[in-house]
Amino acid sequence: MSSGSPEGVRERIARLRQEIERHNHRYYVLDDPLISDAEYDGLMRELRQLEAEHPEFDDDTSPTRRVGGAVATGFAPVVHEIAMLSLDNAFSSGELEAFDARVRKGLGQGAVDAGAVEYVVEPKIDGLGISLSYVRGRLDVGATRGDGAVGENITSNLRTVRSIPLSLPEGAPEQLTARGEVYMAKADFVRLNAERAEAGEAEFANPRNAAAGSLRQFDPSVTSRRRLGAFFYYVPRPEQLGVATHWDALQALKGLGFPVNGLIKKCRGIAEVIAAAEELAAARPGLPYEIDGMVVKVNDLELQSRLGFTSHSPRWAIALKYPAQQAVTRLLNIVVQVGRTGVLTPAAQFEPVVVGGVTVSRASLHNIDYIRAKDIRIGDKVTIQRAGDVIPEVVSVLVQERDGSEREFFMPERCPECDSEVVREEGEAATRCVNFACPARLREGLIHFASRDAMDIEGMGPSMVERLLDAGLVRDVADIYYLTAEQLMTLERVGERSAANLVAAIERSKSNKVHRLIFALGIRHVGENMAKILANEFGSIDALAAADQARLLEVPTVGRAIAESVADFFRTEQNRAALRRLAEAGVSMGSGAKAKAEAGADGDGSGGAGDADGEGDADGGAEAAEFAGKTFVFTGTLSSLKRQQAEEIVESLGGKAGSSVTKSTDYLVAGADAGSKLARAGQLGIAVLSEQEFIKMLRRAGRNLTDGGE
Ligand code: IVH
Repeated sequence: MSSGSPEGVRERIARLRQEIERHNHRYYVLDDPLISDAEYDGLMRELRQLEAEHPEFDDDTSPTRRVGGAVATGFAPVVHEIAMLSLDNAFSSGELEAFDARVRKGLGQGAVDAGAVEYVVEPKIDGLGISLSYVRGRLDVGATRGDGAVGENITSNLRTVRSIPLSLPEGAPEQLTARGEVYMAKADFVRLNAERAEAGEAEFANPRNAAAGSLRQFDPSVTSRRRLGAFFYYVPRPEQLGVATHWDALQALKGLGFPVNGLIKKCRGIAEVIAAAEELAAARPGLPYEIDGMVVKVNDLELQSRLGFTSHSPRWAIALKYPAQQAVTRLLNIVVQVGRTGVLTPAAQFEPVVVGGVTVSRASLHNIDYIRAKDIRIGDKVTIQRAGDVIPEVVSVLVQERDGSEREFFMPERCPECDSEVVREEGEAATRCVNFACPARLREGLIHFASRDAMDIEGMGPSMVERLLDAGLVRDVADIYYLTAEQLMTLERVGERSAANLVAAIERSKSNKVHRLIFALGIRHVGENMAKILANEFGSIDALAAADQARLLEVPTVGRAIAESVADFFRTEQNRAALRRLAEAGVSMGSGAKAKAEAGADGDGSGGAGDADGEGDADGGAEAAEFAGKTFVFTGTLSSLKRQQAEEIVESLGGKAGSSVTKSTDYLVAGADAGSKLARAGQLGIAVLSEQEFIKMLRRAGRNLTDGGE
């Protein structure tokens, strides 16, 4: 390839870039991929290689730039040619009617028939407003809103957002400014916070803050890993598109490859707008991203310009804000848990309270700084909400309700599990137990190792791990692979059949793809995504273990902290010994080419639901381990519940409901007469559940359909 003529190489590079961006669009915007991950990776690899050999063809709009580039030292100011205004708010249908009356009055009597203004309604995405300008079809500058007049140039970071087009198709306008919102999906937020908690890093309070924090990174590779999404909803100079209505502007954006929200709707008259608002409010808990309201815009651009702007917002639009889902309750106690990296995490226990339709009784308080910053004391009355609509969090304390009996909380000076010393490192929010052999660390490490996204050993949930530890049958992860059915049968509540099942599940996990093993090892900073990247790069545990920090840093998305902890992990003799015993037991350690090709396409179709010993999520939060972050798609006719109901339950348990089967689908629930989705799941190797299996899973998560659980 590289030996072709310069012209041939240039053409091949251009073709690859176009092809890859087309697949990015299919995958990230249309949610309808055409090729497998492995095929996609092949194209990327070829492009990366050609670009490395031919720096003369470098181009900022190459898809290879989406993984990040040079680290910035600051963000340059960008003056918005047209100010980024905010929206006026309404909080009730009465206020929407008043808005409509203002619009009609502003347009003058007789300009339109009473009640006949056409509006476009859109979800109000709870993210960060951005403005992109394209020159001759290429992304030129991407900026934050800033104070509305001047924003920050974050182009390098925005390039990493996969759904943002880096170049526009032929025939695009010479100049185009498009505005929209960058957001973090609820599931990605939940996953990110879990990883941060494990790493002893401060967690984000909500998806919006997480998106903002991710965009304001000086290192674009960090932004790239955060998997942000975007929706576009405004063109400040619609003449660039030659359209007469806002609706057509949105359609034109879509045609140019921009992600435009699928829930936008045309409404004639304010009564239709109010009905649409109710519909959207009902759909809200089931959406994969957070919305904080609905935006209503006059459709006709000519009418828009007649109405004009006030100093801070357009007169032709309004935001209907939804109330936050909050509740007040009493904080009964603060308990401390030890995680698998030894981090001590304080958690609030409160009087059970219903927030957004789900009963919650517990919330993580993250670390002592968080408790002090919010001045949370035992006995306080506190306001609770569910961040990302999922994870319970303490918003604030009702200080005026104190009666003096409240007690301040202090982190323990010794580990609550093993009584070893605890330390708090300079610059770290977390307090850690220093004892490598701390039973809590071992227990949490084993639970993680066997969990569904890791080695997926069905039947080895928290309770089984506890029993194995109590009986002294396992002391590290390798011991799992030396367990016999006879040994298991000595445990409480384990009969011949469940022992045989567990042995079989352990056996099956030996042939897992190597990225699962890398993730299962619980290396600090190595989440599921990073495990796949490492598997893709190194192919095997041996190759990964042999890589020093410098070699690890060559991997595009690996930063210093990751390189350090990976290298540390494999230097530790205890870990090396466990890995040797895993290999001797026959656990697949990966092999160059094989693991490489497979790391992306993770549809192993095992359908194993972890934690099958039926105890659900031990932490009592609103989400359930089997559902958290998982995408469920429903097809066919369900007999015991409506599809929408099923989707809402999935969401309330921390999962996502998808509408089409893609490789990021975790489960397809197939009712009667399932059709093409079932076939597609088969092709992609997605786990398929019957309605009964799904209901069983709900039961394990504490949802019983018969007792009116929803
Ligand atoms: S239109 C001139 N549409 O909400 C009109 N804004 O509170 C510009 N937002 O600054 C805004 N979803 O960041 C519009 N569908 C939507 C939106 C939306 C979210 C944000 C945007 C804006 C803020 C105003």
